[in-house]
Amino acid sequence: MPSNQRKILLLPGDGIGPEVVRETKKVIDWFNKKKSLDFKLDQGLIGGAAIDEHGVPITDEVFYKALESDAVIFGACGGPKYDKLEFSKKPERALLKLRKELKLFANLRPAICFKQLVDASSLKPEIVSGLDILIVRELTGGIYFGEPRGVQPIENGERRGVNTHVYTTKEIKRIAKVAFELAAKRNNKVTSCEKSNVMEAGVLWREEVQNLKDNEYKKINLNHMLADNCAMQLLRNPKQFDVILADNLFGDMLSDEAAMLTGSLGLLPSASLGVKDKNGRTRSLYEPVHGSAPDIEGKNISNPIATILSFSMALKYSLGLEKESAHLDKAVEKTLEDGLRTPDIMSKGKKKVSTSDMGDAIISNLN
Ligand code: IPM
Ligand code: MG
Repeated sequence: MPSNQRKILLLPGDGIGPEVVRETKKVIDWFNKKKSLDFKLDQGLIGGAAIDEHGVPITDEVFYKALESDAVIFGACGGPKYDKLEFSKKPERALLKLRKELKLFANLRPAICFKQLVDASSLKPEIVSGLDILIVRELTGGIYFGEPRGVQPIENGERRGVNTHVYTTKEIKRIAKVAFELAAKRNNKVTSCEKSNVMEAGVLWREEVQNLKDNEYKKINLNHMLADNCAMQLLRNPKQFDVILADNLFGDMLSDEAAMLTGSLGLLPSASLGVKDKNGRTRSLYEPVHGSAPDIEGKNISNPIATILSFSMALKYSLGLEKESAHLDKAVEKTLEDGLRTPDIMSKGKKKVSTSDMGDAIISNLN
């Protein structure tokens, strides 16, 4: 195998996943052909698509392929068809398994408001123009994975549902470190969110983040904010934020909210990065923040930009190709500049295009 060959695994998944990944594949093919890069592509079923075919949300074969890849590009998973399945068999379990087993603890979710799209936001232009926030979400701990968990019968035929929110010093410090390192390359400011007013684990989170800053990141401007207040401040004055650090659940919610500030959930990419293994390799998965959007599935109207920008993050964070990543970001921006809009970001005077038209236009701007 040539030494510069990189393995990329595509997991389109469900709903609009296949359409947005299809457009991203065009972009990857373009880089292979035009920039003589050696990306070796493979593809697998995940989520509902895997359930339909194999009866499980992810097969061992696909799981091992993901383990072996330099980057995984994930579309979306889930849909109403699978709502009634037993919890452990639901499509989402596949994604959570990948996050957990690949140790993808750091989820980066940039929320950038393109100047061409200030009008697509539901907030006033002056509130969102120039917005550039990075949400750093812890992804392998907290209430998503804590034990005990489950639903048990109790007396009177009633039931009791339990999930556990739990974090250790080590887990908090390693995600805070990621936030501090990234902030140091941006505007040096980190806002750490928790609910230390009601949760002991929130108190611990606040203390450990502060300790790490005091000991190792003295130059970072750190402030702490209760997560509910952060949700409110994101709507009131989002530009006060640079890097937002949050646990798994608060990060999930705050990133959806931040996404809408930028005009559409269809624009937000994300990177999930792992711990370095003994060979110095970091595993990674890239996915749009939006979900499977079953209501618009198969209509060729979804926005492929979030997934294409997720590949751009892969170029930057996993494939060591920062220049290529910037080139791709520029092509996306130029396409918006040209006035092309999928329906989710459509506004007066612009040209409404389909998913595949948007992909093609981005390719021609790459050229
Ligand atoms: C996300 C999604 C997932 C999550 C779901 C699909 C399991 O909402 O990536 O934000 O809750 O983490
Ligand atoms: Mg979410």
